[in-house]
Amino acid sequence: MDDPRIDGERLWASLMEMAKIGATPAGGVCRLALSDFDKESRDLFITWCEDAGCAISVDRVGNIFARRAGSDDGLAPVVTGSHLDTQPTGGKFDGAYGVLAGLEVMRTLNDHGVETKAPFEAIAWTNEEGCRFTTSMAGSGVFAGVYTLDDIRAHADADGLTFGEELERIGYAGAEAVGGRPIAAYFEAHIEQGPFLEAENKTIGVVTGGQGKRSFEITVAGRESHAGTTPMPARRDALMGAVHMIEEVEALALAKAPEGVGTVGMIEAKPNSRNTIPGSAFFSADLRHPDPAALDDMAAGLKRSCGRIAEARGLTYEMTEVTHYPATKFDEACVSAVRGAAERLGYSHRDIISRAGHDACSMAHIAPAAMIFVPCENGISHAEIENATPDDLAAGCNVLLHAMLQIDGS
Ligand code: GLV
Ligand code: MN
Ligand code: MN
Repeated sequence: MDDPRIDGERLWASLMEMAKIGATPAGGVCRLALSDFDKESRDLFITWCEDAGCAISVDRVGNIFARRAGSDDGLAPVVTGSHLDTQPTGGKFDGAYGVLAGLEVMRTLNDHGVETKAPFEAIAWTNEEGCRFTTSMAGSGVFAGVYTLDDIRAHADADGLTFGEELERIGYAGAEAVGGRPIAAYFEAHIEQGPFLEAENKTIGVVTGGQGKRSFEITVAGRESHAGTTPMPARRDALMGAVHMIEEVEALALAKAPEGVGTVGMIEAKPNSRNTIPGSAFFSADLRHPDPAALDDMAAGLKRSCGRIAEARGLTYEMTEVTHYPATKFDEACVSAVRGAAERLGYSHRDIISRAGHDACSMAHIAPAAMIFVPCENGISHAEIENATPDDLAAGCNVLLHAMLQIDGS
């Protein structure tokens, strides 16, 4: 066998073509899970994979599998994947890169006439972002047995439409059972979404694991009353209570800096009228830390603070945990396959942990898994200005190809 390299221009062209689906005027992408744009991106991915000779299957949670046969098709597959859904003001690369890198691996194997031992699969997982519907990494989570299909299907978006209804509406509630089959190894290529590779001028991040996340929704209840006539001491202002709780999210993260991070990304007051004191307020709190004990500490601290603030202000509150995934340690053999490939191909590299959630963290529950990071401009992601260079994206895809080939032994 010759020593194959992926076609970086073809990968870039596919990324730019995919980025037209749900393109925003500011250069980003809005392709929410199970929206019409999500369907369009899935259709395109399937067309490209079929053109590359892959067999397509879709499971009941909408995960798409493009399979290229191996010489022993009974072997557990070597797989790669990521997601096509984006944040509301997302970029061109978060998710799409890993999916199209998988496709580029298939195309490259075809170009070079490579017959792998095990089948290779490229996957597009459903609803990784968890923004339109909770929970993050939903499709891969059901595949890995972290969530049940019924639970995920019941989650509703802000308009009350359920995941299950929307999955059926776009025609992607497939026939395959979800998961329950052996996977030889799982690799995922992704932009770093943080600043470290760029700052150190490294091309490849060898991802050894990921930090944990606990994500909450908090609803504060007070009493609506007149903004002009209610004396300050008589108020039970739900939004002011929420404001002080929100400050605690930042304080808890700062107390554990630099590892601890805390974000309030959503806030809502009711009735949202300028001259009525809010009787109800809602906010989200996303807490992350690489150390599980420290993360639990942050969550417990938030609960205590909410209780204290509510009590002092005559308010009540409800706190629901919508996502909880633990810190992940990736598989030694897969990690060293990534490191070895970067080394052999002559790319600068460093070990790194992932600060974002990824489908690879789901897959690590049931299969040997690892990730490959490439730098992104100014470390910015979950933003329309997200950017990465064609050369770095090609390098990450070459590492993906060679790590998969090494694990396959072909
Ligand atoms: C997903 O992108 C997350 O890390 O929240
Ligand atoms: Mn992603
Ligand atoms: Mn994301």
